[in-house]
Amino acid sequence: MSVTINDSYLLLQDGYLFVEIARRLENFQKENPDKSVIKMGIGDVTKPLPKTVIKAFKDAVEEMGDPDTFKGYGPEQGYSFLAETIIKNDFKPNGVNIDTDEVFISDGAKCDTGNIQEIFGLNNKICVTDPVYPVYVDTNVMAGRGGSITNDGTYKSIVYMPCTEKNNFIPELPKEPVDLIYLCFPNNPTGTTLNKKQLSNFVEYARENNSIILFDAAYEAFITENNVPHSIYEINGSKEVAIEFRSFSKTAGFTGTRCAYTIVPKELYGLDSKGEKVSINKLWNRRQTTKFNGVSYPVQKAAEATFSPEGRKEIRENINYYMENAKIIIDKLTDLGLNVYGGINSPYIWVKTPSNMKSWDFFDLLLNEANIVGTPGAGFGLSGEGYLRLTAFNTLENTKKAMTRISKIEL
Ligand code: MLT
Repeated sequence: MSVTINDSYLLLQDGYLFVEIARRLENFQKENPDKSVIKMGIGDVTKPLPKTVIKAFKDAVEEMGDPDTFKGYGPEQGYSFLAETIIKNDFKPNGVNIDTDEVFISDGAKCDTGNIQEIFGLNNKICVTDPVYPVYVDTNVMAGRGGSITNDGTYKSIVYMPCTEKNNFIPELPKEPVDLIYLCFPNNPTGTTLNKKQLSNFVEYARENNSIILFDAAYEAFITENNVPHSIYEINGSKEVAIEFRSFSKTAGFTGTRCAYTIVPKELYGLDSKGEKVSINKLWNRRQTTKFNGVSYPVQKAAEATFSPEGRKEIRENINYYMENAKIIIDKLTDLGLNVYGGINSPYIWVKTPSNMKSWDFFDLLLNEANIVGTPGAGFGLSGEGYLRLTAFNTLENTKKAMTRISKIEL
């Protein structure tokens, strides 16, 4: 045998969090086939695609079946009709100027936030919030930026910014210089947000330290409060220091349809090993054109339809529906005496476990006693221990049923 593997993969934790949860659920269902489990674990939507979106999707499929309108490979970066619509709707109204060649349409923010690290040097210092969406950490560990794994499961070379009840889930600026800072706000998993001032502090830090912020705004459509930025580009000076990731998954129900986009500003530069400035936009373009052939035409037409007046209305109704679920969860759990966070500008509710129970113990309790699946906070990092995440993405009926079930167990 002569083939060797990428040893960095051996530093990854046992399994991807949501795969591990699915495994535990499958075991439970095997042993308890008569139990109907309510899934509030993975953040997956339950509402079908809106009518307007389906119509555009179908029409585009018809075009693909007609020799006059058939399309082969599209632009790797996405069709300009979608890039222009995105700019007009998602950025212009907030006074943000984005050029079409700064928009890269893709099949998911998970892929983009995972792939982006490829274009950066291996010696960059990575900084993440803790708890954190596991993709940011795992992809850097795979690339070899994690360093060794410590006893508490953290990686030696990664800088963690704890977000807990103690600091109101507001990460403190890193105390040591870092290069790439992953921020996700509204946050997955805590559901909490940063206001404009708090986000500006990070932009200022990045400008002073020549860092780049990788800003995951996948949940911006769930923001209900003023003064919570929808885009990092609402902060002055951020185009020189930030890449932003957006997704149609949670916003428009595209988890199974797949469409997202990433903004890579032309103002953004990194240094090569000789210290020369290199355009990050050009590098990402080079990466995408080599490794990606674009999102299918019908999916991009479906995504475009989410911005039509009717599409927007339908999407807003779905978001409001989920946010009503979030409110039901917050109210009920608060009534039961639990400390809950998030759920105001996000579909995620971050629950402090009762009696300082461990996350996985609380997960098991909810599964066994109430037949509800949550996501154990510890799966998102050290500071997630003692918390559990619930999503508001189930149906109203199931959400109410779940709350009734929880109120019957002894907490
Ligand atoms: C989650 O549950 O955290 C999300 O569904 C993960 C994702 O969007 O990949």
